[in-house]
Amino acid sequence: AAKARTAYVCGECGMDHNKWQGQCAGCAAWNTLSEFVIEPASAAAVKSVAASRRSGWAGKADVPAVTALKDVKHAEEARVSTGIGEFDRVLGGGLVHGSVVLVGGDPGIGKSTLLLQAVAMMSSTMPGLYVTGEESLAQVAGRGARLGLPIDGVHALAETCIERVLEQAAPMGPRLIVADSIQTLWTETLTAAPGSVSQVRESAARLVRYAKETGTAVFLVGHVTKEGGIAGPRVLEHMVDAVLYFEGESGSRFRVLRAFKNRFGAVNELGVFAMGDKGLREVPNPSAIFLSGSREPQPGSCVMVTREGTRPLLVEVQALVDHSPLSNPRRVAVGMEGNRLAMLLAVLHRHGGVGVGDQDVFVNVVGGIRVQETAVDLPLLLAVLSSLRDRPLAEQTVAFGEVGLSGEIRPVPNGEERLKEAATHGFKRAIVPKGNAPKAKRIGEMEVIAVERLSEALEVAT
Ligand code: TYD
Ligand code: MG
Repeated sequence: AAKARTAYVCGECGMDHNKWQGQCAGCAAWNTLSEFVIEPASAAAVKSVAASRRSGWAGKADVPAVTALKDVKHAEEARVSTGIGEFDRVLGGGLVHGSVVLVGGDPGIGKSTLLLQAVAMMSSTMPGLYVTGEESLAQVAGRGARLGLPIDGVHALAETCIERVLEQAAPMGPRLIVADSIQTLWTETLTAAPGSVSQVRESAARLVRYAKETGTAVFLVGHVTKEGGIAGPRVLEHMVDAVLYFEGESGSRFRVLRAFKNRFGAVNELGVFAMGDKGLREVPNPSAIFLSGSREPQPGSCVMVTREGTRPLLVEVQALVDHSPLSNPRRVAVGMEGNRLAMLLAVLHRHGGVGVGDQDVFVNVVGGIRVQETAVDLPLLLAVLSSLRDRPLAEQTVAFGEVGLSGEIRPVPNGEERLKEAATHGFKRAIVPKGNAPKAKRIGEMEVIAVERLSEALEVAT
């Protein structure tokens, strides 16, 4: 019979190697290979494939046959509500049967809380199994009771060996399994330590296979490393149907759930929650919660309208510019991309005539939210200028717009919707790309100032 074979698998790209080497031949990353035992296919499976080959694909029942795509029976994915509207929104309208969803986030952000709430809320329609490898059953039950959740239909299992988890799950036939966390699961077929790349990958693979075979939906909880990725192999993200990240600032009670990948819905959709003493409560109209709340206009602050997912959000961008004692002044960005900050400061110097070469520049998006779209460029530079001059922007000003390398201000998608949102919240002045400005130059009470160049924007802002 065929023997199990040892392979060395890259944690970044998933490429197999026959022997260990320092650098991956696939993606050239260093020290990413780890040991992996590959089980031989069972003898029966090998025989049946061989038989079907001999019979010329003659459609044996247990062998996949080539089929005209139009003849394949299919249905709209049946979705089940999680009982939490904001969670449904990020999933693309509810949880799809048999789908595997990875929920990542920093330790303590609220992943276990959110999923326990969801399993409990869904338990009347989808009997759930909560597999806990980090907390004891008593801790999970205690939390459920304290939050007043309907936990009657929820089963729990404190087990980390994936074979035993699936063995226990099978007779119960849950429609939903939560694995909290994927880093604690391990399989008997590998010698590597639990938590290692190969253990995480193989345990996830077992659960994915189980989900597809039985139509059971699976949530995988994953901790995020300092570098911002899910601890474990990148390949996890490719194996699952959806990847959701849970983000927030430790000091803030607001949490944002973001779809990073979703086979059944839009990416970059946001769900907003507030953590309180009764667990996570959804915030269905989050439009203005990410403003700092200070009434007096402050130097170094600019409000922008971002549009993450399918709705606009008002967020405050803050900058602190201060004389640097260093020969290489610092540029630190929290909540947005650091490389983009450096690039925008170069544009500010070259096309705005404002140099910050001898200054430290810190920028932050209030509330622990991340802004990933280029519409942040203009408000960011206005905040930097305002801090440098120590002069607040005019009261009730919002801005958005992409800044190009030659100092041009480019339009961003959904300008009209963003402007309406700002006007609804009582803003009096908007500085926006010409391509986004309405002909009327006003929206309600709000004056809309259209700019084409960075230099114009800097002039009207101060
Ligand atoms: P948890 O869900 O355990 O986080 P994770 O699974 O992502 O590590 O959440 C833990 C934090 O949430 C903890 O610091 C306490 C806080 N919390 C509340 O403030 N209120 C609550 O009702 C609950 C359950 C947790
Ligand atoms: Mg947890």
